[in-house]
Amino acid sequence: MRERVFNLLVIDDENGIRAGITRVLENHRIKFIDFDTILSFKIYSAASLGDSEKIILQENFSFYIIDYLLPDGNGIQFLNLLNERVNNTYLAIMISAHGELPLVVNAAKCGAFDFIVKPFGPNEIRSAVYKAAEYFLLLERNKEFEADKKRIRYEFISILAHELKSPINAIESYLNIMEGHLQGELINNYQRPIVRSKTRIQEMRKLINDLLDLTKIESNCRERNIEEINLCEVMHNCLESYQPLAKQKNIRINYQIDEKLLINANRSEIEMLVNNLISNAVKYNKDNGTVDFTASIQGKKLNIIIVDSGIGIAKDEKNKLFLEFSRIKNENTKNISGSGLGLSIVKKIVDQYHGSIEVESEVDRGTKFFISLTIV
Ligand SMILES: Nc1ncnc2c1ncn2[C@@H]1O[C@H](COP(=O)(O)OP(=O)(O)OP(=O)(O)O)[C@@H](O)[C@H]1O
Ligand SMILES: [Mg+2]
Repeated sequence: MRERVFNLLVIDDENGIRAGITRVLENHRIKFIDFDTILSFKIYSAASLGDSEKIILQENFSFYIIDYLLPDGNGIQFLNLLNERVNNTYLAIMISAHGELPLVVNAAKCGAFDFIVKPFGPNEIRSAVYKAAEYFLLLERNKEFEADKKRIRYEFISILAHELKSPINAIESYLNIMEGHLQGELINNYQRPIVRSKTRIQEMRKLINDLLDLTKIESNCRERNIEEINLCEVMHNCLESYQPLAKQKNIRINYQIDEKLLINANRSEIEMLVNNLISNAVKYNKDNGTVDFTASIQGKKLNIIIVDSGIGIAKDEKNKLFLEFSRIKNENTKNISGSGLGLSIVKKIVDQYHGSIEVESEVDRGTKFFISLTIV
């Protein structure tokens, strides 16, 4: 467990109270299992607003215990001072001989986390400090999450920009060749740059469509229409799209689905899932290979298995398959285009159905994807 010591400032003009709080908290250790932290305090004390002002210039505090009535002002003034001058995260507990509602409300408005009425015992102080410490750790964790979210978004956008820039650069250079008449005056001489440009445009369109699919799944605001769908029908439509590529490579796609297999699901999600898996099974297959697709219902589970006889996936590459923009780069894949979003879309859809996805693969022999979705 991580040991952390936090600075805590006690502000009270009564010597007894300052000494009492210090005694209760100075050797106090709080264990927060959820945060993997043992927390303790280094206690400072001040007898007036003026002294406190000086101390906070020298030290950073995470916790304050402040008396309301001070000889040269009051605790609310100190809270306002903290609001103005302190940037780090802190929590303040106010103590007072009077617990009238307007005072408590005012203290809360000015940022007090808790309020204790005098006289109080050691347990009350410990419990207020426990609550404050737990909340403090929560705030810290939240901040880390926010920072992580920002970093992930930044990474996502950088990769996206990079992925869009490379086809644009390629098309620009093909256009430069044509503009400069670099391959003579006959349009037929430019067949290759034209075909290459069109391919790059198709890749960009695929990337944009994948991104739209991804955002559609991620945004909870879309209406998720659940209807009865026939998986055989979905498969037929999918085959229409991938049969041409399969034919080119002489790949046979077999499937075993009960024609009456009906499931309650979102049609476009199931289409995306099947399309992406079949697309991979064909794209990363070898000439004269096979793809076998089976689907069956077991209680509330829809189990899908896709087996291909393709190039396979090395063990150490498996863990990054479902990350956005992740592609395996090697001799076998260098001429196969893709945005690296397909399987991350599949994973998000599987999550929507509280399902699971597993991969078994052997390099050069083929790959098997097991998917299980919970269908209500
Ligand atoms: N059936 C498979 N056999 C071998 N490798 C695969 C298979 N499926 C996926 N991969 C590998 O995993 C990577 C990620 O797949 P994914 O479907 O996410 O992206 P992609 O196919 O490259 O692009 P996209 O699907 O967005 O067009 C692929 O680039 C490929 O290297
Ligand atoms: Mg893919």
